[in-house]
Amino acid sequence: MKVFKFLYFTFLFFLIILFFSNYKRKETIIIIKEPNNYDVLVNKKYKLSEDYIPNDLEEVNVNYSYEHKYLRHEARIAFENMARDASKLGYKIVLVSAYRNYSYQASLFQEYVDTKGIEYAQMCSALAGHSEHQTGLAMDIMGSNGDYNLFSETEEFNWVKNNAHKYGLILRYPQDKTNVTGFKYEPWHYRYVGITLATYLYQNNLTLEEYKEKSN
Ligand code: DAL
Ligand code: ZN
Repeated sequence: MKVFKFLYFTFLFFLIILFFSNYKRKETIIIIKEPNNYDVLVNKKYKLSEDYIPNDLEEVNVNYSYEHKYLRHEARIAFENMARDASKLGYKIVLVSAYRNYSYQASLFQEYVDTKGIEYAQMCSALAGHSEHQTGLAMDIMGSNGDYNLFSETEEFNWVKNNAHKYGLILRYPQDKTNVTGFKYEPWHYRYVGITLATYLYQNNLTLEEYKEKSN
């Protein structure tokens, strides 16, 4: 009888351990309450609701855009100003992806899973609701070589990485911060946060995650 009791309690003990270790591992997802803020943090932890659509989306000037793309008003002005100034210096900056709605993001993520597998997909594409492209404040750009994947090899990239903050834009997924952002290096992805914050983050080599953590 004693042996059964012992086995029973040992089994119970392991069940409790198993429950808490799984509980701990699961990251809690938080629904973003103020999605319209320019410093909104959208990542693997903070999620936009499925029906969130910014109400000030505007079409980006087609001179600086590949097909019809939309950004929120302030982000559009910032991007167009940057692209215009770049063109005056002889650079060519083209917007290849901007606002993406929830369902389009879901299909993009699934495409990565189908073609490259789940682990790769999780490193380079956000789940629906977890992409800052849904905020209308994020943009993917390419330079004169016409391939956003190879943007870092262009002279445009050199200029953008040192000047984007003057327009209120930040390089959102830097090479040395993949463990902080949860995504691999994306030299083509910029995010509007406003000039003051962008300059602060640039000068202090901080990601939005690190800044938000500090200010919480
Ligand atoms: N590629 C970025 C992480 C996105 O899917 O939003
Ligand atoms: Zn992007």
